[in-house]
Amino acid sequence: MSSCAPIGVFDSGLGGISVVRELREAMPNERIIYFGDSANAPYGIKTPQEVRELSFKIVEHFASLNVKAIVIACNTATSAAVKDLREHYSMPIIGMEPALKLACDLGGGKPQRVIVAATPLTLKERKFAELMNRFTQDHQIFSRPCPDLVEIVENGDLGNKNIVMSALHKYFDSYDLNNIDSVVLGCTHFVFYKSYFREFLPDCVKIVDGNAGTIHHLKSVLDSMNLLADKDDEGSVLLTNSDSSDRIAKLSQSLLNSDC
Ligand code: DGL
Repeated sequence: MSSCAPIGVFDSGLGGISVVRELREAMPNERIIYFGDSANAPYGIKTPQEVRELSFKIVEHFASLNVKAIVIACNTATSAAVKDLREHYSMPIIGMEPALKLACDLGGGKPQRVIVAATPLTLKERKFAELMNRFTQDHQIFSRPCPDLVEIVENGDLGNKNIVMSALHKYFDSYDLNNIDSVVLGCTHFVFYKSYFREFLPDCVKIVDGNAGTIHHLKSVLDSMNLLADKDDEGSVLLTNSDSSDRIAKLSQSLLNSDC
């Protein structure tokens, strides 16, 4: 495997573009091929078996492109498929999980009250139950499925403040938000909502996501395998999608270039 081979990044749809932005920033010399499976989104309300099958198809596609590593820029696909994918393929496969550890660590040893916002499937899977188990003794954790926040991005409605704010009210009004320490954005689509969450949540509530940690991990894995691109290599991003419409191509490009 050569260090100038591309990195494959995929998600159920457009959410993983938030991870690509982080990757491009942190590792500007890498060639990135993104695959969004918008034709099959959302994954978060499918069965684990369906998500596994779709994930295998995408990884097989990346393998045929000789990528040097794969980032599953999707918490849902990671929970349903990462274990099986790693057993089946030899290239490094980096997964994602809700950044609950980061949120709890921010308390510096004090018990934290944390809301984990994610897809229904992520929150139902064993991987998340195991993650919760590590923290529930010392912290209070609330799981909040927010499937509409995926649809809003896929429908191109992220710029519609009324739609976004009413979804946030629907999902979070039942909490006493002044007594919450942090909200974990446990789905890559939700990272695009950061400034809406900032406006919606009291100032004392921290907003946490796992994108930077994922890219940091990718970098150290590639470094340990001597697979980091050279400083002279020219980085690039190729956005591809199972939905080949113009609408999705334009939306993908605008999410890549936006700073939301
Ligand atoms: N972006 C995905 C995640 O991080 C899943 C969204 C979906 O398709 O439901 O979990």
